[in-house]
Amino acid sequence: MYYLNPNIENLYRIFDQNERKDYLRLDLNENPGGLPEEFVKEVLSGVTPQLVAQYPETLHFTEVLAKHLGTDIAHLCLVNGSSEGIRYIIQAFTSENGRIVGVVPSYFMFQVYSEMYGRNFVKVPYNDDLTMDVDNIINALTDDTQLLILLNPNNPMGNVYTADEFEKILSTAKQKQITVLIDETYHYFYPKTFMKYALTQEHIFVTRTFSKLFSMAGCRLGYVAGWPDGIKMVQKLCTPHNTNAFAMLFAEKILETPGVLDGLISGFNEGRSYLINELDKLGYPHKGEAGNFLFIKPKTDAQKIVERMKQEKKILIKTYPNVGEFGDCLRVTIGEKRFMEIFISALVELDK
Ligand SMILES: Cc1ncc(COP(=O)(O)O)c(C=O)c1O
Repeated sequence: MYYLNPNIENLYRIFDQNERKDYLRLDLNENPGGLPEEFVKEVLSGVTPQLVAQYPETLHFTEVLAKHLGTDIAHLCLVNGSSEGIRYIIQAFTSENGRIVGVVPSYFMFQVYSEMYGRNFVKVPYNDDLTMDVDNIINALTDDTQLLILLNPNNPMGNVYTADEFEKILSTAKQKQITVLIDETYHYFYPKTFMKYALTQEHIFVTRTFSKLFSMAGCRLGYVAGWPDGIKMVQKLCTPHNTNAFAMLFAEKILETPGVLDGLISGFNEGRSYLINELDKLGYPHKGEAGNFLFIKPKTDAQKIVERMKQEKKILIKTYPNVGEFGDCLRVTIGEKRFMEIFISALVELDK
């Protein structure tokens, strides 16, 4: 009899992320403006037939990255987007029916991967005022929990943990021998990091990406940082040559060209201040201490606004249903001011 894995057969996946090219995309936390065009042209001028023809070599870029992070290559594994690294950590550090604890709402792939591999994903919900009670996370850490997933900051809530809160969670996780995965996809928009734990202690991973501030989502590049034996486990799961040569070329040039990262950060900060000021002036409640996105409580129906933004304004944004006291709300990616101006004028017109 043919066999179909029921975990895969019953898995719900979203495959509608095509045909977004002609829209102002404020739905997936990409950088709508991207890297400076001149910079992109210059990097592409270094593309040779060999670079395209040959399997990519990862050692050089891993060394560049290790230097940037102040570590060595034994603590790093390059992956095809951090979502790939997350998947490998779940595969390697949890078992069939294994208990995984994570906050909700959050990046949906944690739950998708848990279902894909038949894991038991236990949700720790946010409070109604959209704060996270650290004790609720700690109380969810039972003796049979295998993996705890935290985000610093969380998407879509934008919340973060203080060093004390994090230490408190960590000490329970350690005591119960639970591996901790800290997703730092939105690092750089929010500079505080728990990377030092991943680089100095066992059973703590940090995943990061080049998709967000680095504006390279189209190239697919991320990395897992952790203790050397844990990194070896992740490496064993990687498909052959999973890290593409274009991505490493771009990432290296961004890291090594003075001013590129700073330019991206200042463009983002200007957009963020503008958006928050305008929302305040217009009386919109919003949330998002960190990250390149903001939760906005609309005045009228959130789903209708999302649909009209798409149909009438060619703007893509996302809606989250039933989020505490915000109810059905909008999540909008923050980009440079010129994009935020377009969004605000559409919001004013459509949300009435
Ligand atoms: C919290 C979080 N983690 C991971 C990812 C995956 O990013 P990528 O696979 O592009 O590195 C995303 C993407 O939006 C995200 O929001």
